[in-house]
Amino acid sequence: MNPILSLREHSVLTLTLNRVDKKNALTQEMYSLLHRELQQAAQDDAVRVVVLQGQQDLFSSGNDVSEFLQRPPGGLDTPVFDFLRSLADFPKPLIAAVGGPAVGIGTTMLLHCDLVYCGDNALFSLPFVNLGLSPEAGSSLLLPLRVGPAAASELLLFGEPFSADEALAVGLVNRVLPPEQLLDYAQAQARRLAAKPSASLVLTKQLLRKGQREAVHAAIADEAWQFARMLQGPAAKEAFRAFLDKRKPDFSGL
Ligand code: COA
Repeated sequence: MNPILSLREHSVLTLTLNRVDKKNALTQEMYSLLHRELQQAAQDDAVRVVVLQGQQDLFSSGNDVSEFLQRPPGGLDTPVFDFLRSLADFPKPLIAAVGGPAVGIGTTMLLHCDLVYCGDNALFSLPFVNLGLSPEAGSSLLLPLRVGPAAASELLLFGEPFSADEALAVGLVNRVLPPEQLLDYAQAQARRLAAKPSASLVLTKQLLRKGQREAVHAAIADEAWQFARMLQGPAAKEAFRAFLDKRKPDFSGL
């Protein structure tokens, strides 16, 4: 089965994470597919808006943990960073629809989206510290800008899951909906945007992000280097082995 579904209707391209048996854990293959879709959509005049979604009760459990252990991302020339750069640079409106869990990169990728709608069942988490890791995807720069430094410190240092209402309160999401309305609402909003003059949408997005591009790319690169180093450390290895073994991690002595 294709782990990324791609559907274009009414000038709206919808990309759906479709690896439900692994809670939409993201693999290198999935990052490559998403990167390719975004690159094509950026060039394609028939696409005016992109929606990124999972299912109404599942967004993503973050990076695939087995791949983190077996094939940790080495340099910046890897699918995950291709995806992050194409997401960060995507010129047209990008809407995310989040239901259920959004873990790790499942939450940090939202910082690159223009509008985020979520179900009241959404559960966000930035668990990096609890996994012996550090922030990624530009989140050390973008999270404080989005939610303010105080909330960003709390979310990143404690790394505890937070609800849809908390995400709304800090400004991570635009609107909270009943789960059964989430995907339809995101589509309706995407179609409303797609009916507007495309050049004005693109220019407005560009102006809203003016001056940020280089800083975002630098943050992604700086974080990537630290993240890769931490991924090789004993705490991260223990955290991921424990997850796969379905037990609590033992950080004593680490
Ligand atoms: N990578 C690889 N496999 C994953 C995964 C991930 N990120 N998240 C879930 N899975 C797998 C589980 O290992 C399990 O596989 P199995 O059926 O072969 O045993 C299956 O998906 C179902 O996951 P499970 O944990 O049993 O579902 P749940 O409903 O109890 O919990 C989550 C869902 C999303 C809350 C939980 O899976 C989770 O916290 N995952 C995040 C893992 C993580 O640390 N991500 C990296 C962040 S940097």
